[in-house]
Amino acid sequence: MSVTTDTLAIHGGEPAVTRPLNHYKGAAQVGEAEKAAVLEVLTAQSLFRYYGPNLLEKTAAFETAIAAHLGVPFAAACSSGTAALRMGLIALGVGAGDEVIVPATTFIASVNAVVTQGAVPIFAEVDEYLCLDPAAIEPLLTERTRAIMPVHLNGVAVDMEPLMAIARRHGVAVLEDTAQACGSAYHGTKLGTIGDVGAFSFQLEKNITSGDGGLVVTHDEELYKRAVKYSDQGGQFPIQAAVCVTSWAVRRISARTCG
Ligand SMILES: Cc1ncc(COP(=O)(O)O)c(C=O)c1O
Repeated sequence: MSVTTDTLAIHGGEPAVTRPLNHYKGAAQVGEAEKAAVLEVLTAQSLFRYYGPNLLEKTAAFETAIAAHLGVPFAAACSSGTAALRMGLIALGVGAGDEVIVPATTFIASVNAVVTQGAVPIFAEVDEYLCLDPAAIEPLLTERTRAIMPVHLNGVAVDMEPLMAIARRHGVAVLEDTAQACGSAYHGTKLGTIGDVGAFSFQLEKNITSGDGGLVVTHDEELYKRAVKYSDQGGQFPIQAAVCVTSWAVRRISARTCG
């Protein structure tokens, strides 16, 4: 459902969620609309985003809708929040020997994504909300610092204004780990859209869920293209033209196979 006010329910605003919540936040909201949407995909056999017998393009529709909701021009869905973090790091050019500043308190996936790139996580102190403390960043910067990864834990925003000021002053990229905070905002701006790249998770326990799943968002077309290319074998399907050519090729191959 959608709410029409930014006033929190605890302050008298319209509740965004009316059914009881449990630990499995997104899953707890699964209802008839979700069941119908899944059945529609199964019935059409539209199980892959780029081609298939009756392509419904649900993933593309989701990307368009969530990009509009978040207020960004570019959104790329992927298989998990961890994949989204890796796509973000690669898009930003983070590689072996680079340093990435991460909060000392987070889920291990934030750090693992950095390590998987061969980069070095540099742990920064957290504030009273358990979020990366901007005041802890500057002493940790070196000539090898390539990115800062604020993690918005439990829907709570990192104090992004001073963090972005430091990042811009030192020419360091910002990758927001928004896995736990899809829909939260910082002074009216949706989290994940303030830094250079935002990474989201749709794993079972997240605010919205597809069981597993992830998303990369950015305002920067080049970063988007780099992330998408990495997510699918160098970009075999990233543009519509490629999709058309591939669908055509698949039809030709099926025709040949069927004789
Ligand atoms: C802060 C944080 N970052 C990253 C991830 C990784 O997301 P996923 O489990 O979808 O790979 C999670 C998931 O629990 C998370 O909580």
